[in-house]
Amino acid sequence: MPDPTGSRPDRNLALELVRVTEYGALAAARWVGLGEKESADQAAVDAMRHMLETVQMDGIVVIGEGEKDRAPMLYNGERIGDGSPPEVDIAVDPLEGTTLAADGSPRALSVIALAERGTMFDPGPCVYMMKIAAQQAFAHLLDLDRPLTETLQLVAKEKGGDVRDVTVMMLKRDRHKEAVEEIRRAGARIRFIQHGDVSAALLAVQEASPVDLLWGIGGTPEGVISAASIKCMGGQLLGRLWPRDDEERQAAIDARYDLDEVLDVNRLVAGNDVFFAATGITDGDVLDGVHYTTTGATTESLVMRSRSGTVRRVSARHVREKLREISGERVG
Ligand code: FBP
Repeated sequence: MPDPTGSRPDRNLALELVRVTEYGALAAARWVGLGEKESADQAAVDAMRHMLETVQMDGIVVIGEGEKDRAPMLYNGERIGDGSPPEVDIAVDPLEGTTLAADGSPRALSVIALAERGTMFDPGPCVYMMKIAAQQAFAHLLDLDRPLTETLQLVAKEKGGDVRDVTVMMLKRDRHKEAVEEIRRAGARIRFIQHGDVSAALLAVQEASPVDLLWGIGGTPEGVISAASIKCMGGQLLGRLWPRDDEERQAAIDARYDLDEVLDVNRLVAGNDVFFAATGITDGDVLDGVHYTTTGATTESLVMRSRSGTVRRVSARHVREKLREISGERVG
């Protein structure tokens, strides 16, 4: 926990978490392109769980692999760490983009975020949320209720250009059909992705990004994880829960969720000391994936903390024999 006098730098947990995401990425990378998304995910979960045991903390998984009866490890509510302070909430996605990894497509990540206990939004029964995200310069223009065309025009004006200069990144989904037509009518450009909107959020919030907006309906857990990264990097994400059907809508209402509420990054992750680490599994626009070399493998990671605002890019070299000595077959 922070030194109250502020005179002594305290522990940056993200620097420990990056070992966890590197381990998850190295394990999942063994399954890249093999067409077995569940095995890839399981390998990442298993490796991350193994490494998380070494982190001194009293963590509760708020965003994890799902309910306990369906996920043997990193399930929502699971206690992680050795039980010593700090008390934290954990959001973890050992393999963000299971299909991407299985297909050997770009943008699969291993990712984790931590914040003070009780500060992470628990999406409960809500699988999807509507999201819009952008870098800091456009943050004040984001609005989920304003017609998209107007937002595109405002972004174009802020850029000092034309709507044709604005690029929207979005998941290619049938549910986005009307928005796609609207964006095209407005004259803006679209970059579709098949999966991986955490990676897309990381790209959209960067200064001088080739993407001006991330827009669309994607996973709620991914929304919380993206919000944690944006707390560290700057930018904004607005979300609104998007029930898939009446049953899910009723379950959310029964659990006292406000389906009209606009959830910004501070609502999704209210803590002021947020730690985030992500390691690329397959090459993407933000991070390189795991590359195998003559001696082992290399990884690239982002390591960030909101309180200091430090964003580190960590390139690591992993020696095959030594990795195997430490981890057995898990990641080597
Ligand atoms: P998985 O890692 O669980 O496969 O999720 C990938 C992903 O593309 C997320 O990035 C995104 O938020 C979500 O799935 C979108 O869900 P769907 O594929 O059901 O539209």
